[in-house]
Amino acid sequence: MSIKDCRIIELPKIMDPRGNLTFIEGGVQVPFDIQRVYYLYDVPGGAERGGHAHKNLSQLLIAMSGSFDVLLDDGINKANIHLNRSYNGLYICPMIWREINNFSSGSVCMVLASHKYDEDDYYRNYSNFLDQATLIK
Ligand code: TYD
Repeated sequence: MSIKDCRIIELPKIMDPRGNLTFIEGGVQVPFDIQRVYYLYDVPGGAERGGHAHKNLSQLLIAMSGSFDVLLDDGINKANIHLNRSYNGLYICPMIWREINNFSSGSVCMVLASHKYDEDDYYRNYSNFLDQATLIK
C-alpha cells in the first residue's frame, strides 16, 4: 500500500438554495463498508492528532467544518493534503502513517472507518511502522 492508493473522493453534492446536502453510502461512494464513525472536535489551536498507522483499517476523513492538514506517509513517500470542503473525503488505505494538524478554529474532522475500534490494529510507534512498511514493499 502506498500514498498513491490514497485519494480525494468527491462526494455527491445536492445544491439547494435552502442549503446543500451531501450523502455517503458504504461501498458506493467509499470503497468499504462503514462499520464506525467518529469525529474530532473542540481541537485546541496547535494540537496534533493521528500520529499512527493502521494494519488493516481503511478510512475516509472529511472536514465537516473548517479545515486541517493531513500528512500521509507510506514509509517511502509523503504527501500533505489540506481538507476544507465537506463534500470531499480523503480515502486512506491501510499501512499509511498519518498526522493531522493545522486545525482551524471550530473545525470538525469526521472519520468513516471500515472496522470497529481495535487497538491491536494500530502502529503507534513510527519505527515499528517503518520496519513493517519497508518489509512489505
Ligand atoms: P486515536 O485513534 O489515537 O485518536 P487520533 O488518531 O484521532 O489522535 O484515539 C484516541 C483515543 O480514543 C484512544 O485512547 C482510543 C480511543 N478511541 C476509541 O475508544 N474508539 C475509537 O473509535 C477511536 C477512534 C478512538
